[in-house]
Amino acid sequence: DGAAGDGGVAGVGDIVHEGLRNLEYRGYDSAGVALVGASSGLTVAKRSGEVDNLTVPDVPDAALGVGHTRWSTHGPPTDANAHPHTDCAGDVAVVHNGIVENHEALKAELADHEFTSDTDTEVIPHLIEEELAADSEADLLDAVRGVEDRLEGSYAICAVREDDDRIVVARRGSPLVLGRDADATFVASDVTAFLEHTREVTYLEDGDVAALSADGVDIYADGERVERGVETVTWEADAAEKGGYEHYMRKEIHEQPEALRQTIAGRLDVDGGGVDLDVAFPPGFLADLEEIQIVACGTSNYAGRYAAQLFEELSGVRATVEIASEYEFGAGRSSDRTLVVAVTQSGETADTLGAVRRANAAGARTFAVTNTLGSTVTREVDDTAFIRAGPEIGVAATKTFASQVATLTMLAVAIGRERGALAAADARPVLKGLRDLPGAVQQVLDNEDAVREAASEYGDSEAFFFVGRELGVPVALEGALKLKEISYDHAEGFAAGELKHGPLALVTPDTPVLAVLTDGARADETMNNVTEAQTRGAPAIGCASAGEEYGTLDVSLPVPDVGLVEPLVANVYLQLFAYHVANDKGRSIDKPRNLAKSVTVE
Ligand code: G6P
Repeated sequence: DGAAGDGGVAGVGDIVHEGLRNLEYRGYDSAGVALVGASSGLTVAKRSGEVDNLTVPDVPDAALGVGHTRWSTHGPPTDANAHPHTDCAGDVAVVHNGIVENHEALKAELADHEFTSDTDTEVIPHLIEEELAADSEADLLDAVRGVEDRLEGSYAICAVREDDDRIVVARRGSPLVLGRDADATFVASDVTAFLEHTREVTYLEDGDVAALSADGVDIYADGERVERGVETVTWEADAAEKGGYEHYMRKEIHEQPEALRQTIAGRLDVDGGGVDLDVAFPPGFLADLEEIQIVACGTSNYAGRYAAQLFEELSGVRATVEIASEYEFGAGRSSDRTLVVAVTQSGETADTLGAVRRANAAGARTFAVTNTLGSTVTREVDDTAFIRAGPEIGVAATKTFASQVATLTMLAVAIGRERGALAAADARPVLKGLRDLPGAVQQVLDNEDAVREAASEYGDSEAFFFVGRELGVPVALEGALKLKEISYDHAEGFAAGELKHGPLALVTPDTPVLAVLTDGARADETMNNVTEAQTRGAPAIGCASAGEEYGTLDVSLPVPDVGLVEPLVANVYLQLFAYHVANDKGRSIDKPRNLAKSVTVE
């Protein structure tokens, strides 16, 4: 992920280094910078490991710089594979997000160039070098434009060259955002990189190439100068900092009441039984709608599973959920009667973007539910609803899951109402549950000590099983995913009824069962299955509707009454359980091994 600063100020290296720290959640297995100064020329430093492992060289006359924090795709995380990559002469340096799909063919064409890494990226500086060699009049901007035509795949590139006082950037498929303050110009893959410097930002469009200098930015599309609008970022820079918590994850768990308030703000008409998501479907589209297909990965996929049940119940439409990387627009569907909903907090997950592209190609209407303004998915779908959860830094998604489910619940009501499938009187209790959701989540957070105790009593178990029915199933799956992501313990989620069809063979006194026992999750039947596990010696921890606690549970955690979103509130207990189990084990909670927040490769 690139972060770059360009300005005539001292400390460019420090600005870029700080920007990389702000972006570290997007990848953190190696980092590097390239600095350019009028007399010092081009200085590159890079190494494997986290951003703080990197020593940024002291280049007092540096006027511009680029940096990168990497999450490996081609080649292991070594010093040589870290970005920036340079050409043979060592006077062009490039950082890159995405994948150059035709890098092997390009490498073959560059047979007389010496390569020093295993990355796909390294072809780019060499191609720039060729462009410059082929035309003595060409400058860095011309060369990057020329190279663009030869690259297949997705990219965001920042390039610098000795003796050139500009950073040249290009985007196709991966985000780039520009910023400007009084004496410097910035570009990065996410505004959090430079939010302490400026809030005035410009999102580049796919296909844009831009040249940044201390004086400003020139943007080109199809070779012509273009203007792109300036937007003001309204959230606070310190929203992206840890603010007193030991980990971002715990901070973000505790931010859920506020995040949910933002999610629903101005969108609910509880008395009228209506929802306003500021989305207008074409006339007749919803009336004729035959199927909603949800595509998503990881935690977002579980939010989608929650929503699919609500689409069927509240919108009166058949709804399916696909793992985005497995999605095809299958036979038997009519594309103009299918709505494909991509759920992705980052808006950049390559698997999900791939699914959206397949849906668009088939002619389906596409819809994004995302947290990220200006993200790639928002440019590729017909409509978008933002979840407004605020920045999430912890790799394990928490508040974005809650805000996704809340947004999808509103969408289900909106579609149901507009189709005439849901009466106002039936919408009202759902909307009331949403309105009360922030307060209900706060009550769970206030009960954190009970979860901390359960985590310390059961955290050293051999494995953990999470069960639920109906809306409890996606929550059980999400609870297990959270625990395995951050504690590295073996955890599995099941439909409670399936326990007896196999997993029960694994149950012992050393395998606690965590259960969702709320409204919307067929609590009594689930409790029967929990009892079957207890009979085999397993301890049971249940998140049960307040007032309906089951006396036989080993630990009972009460969930306030909010109807269909009660399982979502139960999920907050499971997040806290995962957090405290992992914290007791001293795990790297915000940056679990082998994972990244936003996975921009398929
Ligand atoms: C990565 C993250 C997960 C996340 C998934 C989907 O794998 O580690 O936490 O759920 O991507 O991300 P998205 O941005 O599409 O919601």
